[in-house]
Amino acid sequence: EEHPARRSAVDGGVADASLLQELRGVRSDTPSVWFMRQAGRSLPEYRALREGTTMLDSCVRPDMAAEITLQPVRRHGVDAGIFFSDIVVPARLAGLGVEIRPGVGPVFDHPVRTEADIEALPPLGDDYEEALAPISEAVRLTVAELGTTPLIGFAGAPFTVASYMVEGGPSRDHLRTRALMRSRPDLWERLATWVAELSGRFLRAQVLAGASAVQLFDSWVGALGQEQYLEHVQAHSAAALAHVADLPVPRIHFGVGAAHLLLPMLGAGATAMGVDHRLRLDRALEVLPAGTPVQGNIDPAVLFTSEEARFAEARGVLEAGAAAAGHVVNLGHGVPPDTDPQVLTDLVAFLHSQRVARAAE
Ligand code: CP3
Repeated sequence: EEHPARRSAVDGGVADASLLQELRGVRSDTPSVWFMRQAGRSLPEYRALREGTTMLDSCVRPDMAAEITLQPVRRHGVDAGIFFSDIVVPARLAGLGVEIRPGVGPVFDHPVRTEADIEALPPLGDDYEEALAPISEAVRLTVAELGTTPLIGFAGAPFTVASYMVEGGPSRDHLRTRALMRSRPDLWERLATWVAELSGRFLRAQVLAGASAVQLFDSWVGALGQEQYLEHVQAHSAAALAHVADLPVPRIHFGVGAAHLLLPMLGAGATAMGVDHRLRLDRALEVLPAGTPVQGNIDPAVLFTSEEARFAEARGVLEAGAAAAGHVVNLGHGVPPDTDPQVLTDLVAFLHSQRVARAAE
């Protein structure tokens, strides 16, 4: 059967959605927008539904994951859903002991630091394929409800996921991970290869079930210099993205504080670059090859300012992205949990009321 991403609205499909067009380098007059972490604690309906279920358990209940994915689309009128899951869900499905501690983040029972730890990683065979079934099911349920609104699938990139595994939990400097990379490049290589396969197949399962675009999150990659990235990370992110390279979906790649890595991250096989709020989009466009669509990058801080300041920032982001081949509006990073949801709804309405300034033809 034909992939949904190829089916046009005329046939009841999503292929004509302007957000997907922007990601393919075709501009629309009206801005397209979604928010990283649009699903989650900022929404009272999310908190109500999640009550009594742990974060990771909710991710493997297809009905719940689908409903949580749909909540922000209904409420805010954003132009895409982001699949509700987490970058450590694949590790859990592969059999590793990991939980998400509220207010902390992912915590692994056994940090992966030695050769024996890496030796003990579960093989990613048929068991893993079967374990991905609830993910595929959740995506199918979601896509059926979304109609002509695209679903964005995602995975964590090898560096960011491996960092949680090596550190055992969240970390500011990712020192153990970066030390492993330098002192035992052979072990790092084996770990990153395993994670690339883990994340890559999670990504592929989502696309085969109907996701129309993907985003690879390398949230913490900004901790690395260009040399370390090129030598130890780029090939593994490329391996993860290669799992969907034969499918007709745009591939967005995003990192925080990664202005110095825009080109190497694009070089890992992305087709569009997510940019955080530290770098203006017109600056990013000076670095990226002509024709690269960009995504971003309203500073999440303006969600806690006056509406006037917020809309001024949004206008500035539209202007800075006007010269891009394609632009999908987003925040520079995720929605903070204490965001007033009405602020997001109003921001979407404001963005949809704006017209994209076209370069003179
Ligand atoms: O709308 C969406 O974006 C929902 C899907 C989503 C989640 N996590 C749900 C989630 C996505 C795309 C992610 C990716 C993710 N997870 C990243 C990359 C994106 C980024 O923010 O940089 C990272 C680094 C993680 C790891 C992680 N998981 C962290 C740091 C946290 C926050 C911990 C906390 O309590 O502050 C989580 C938990 C998490 N993932 C929540 C949600 C909705 C909160 C869980 C809860 O409700 O308690």
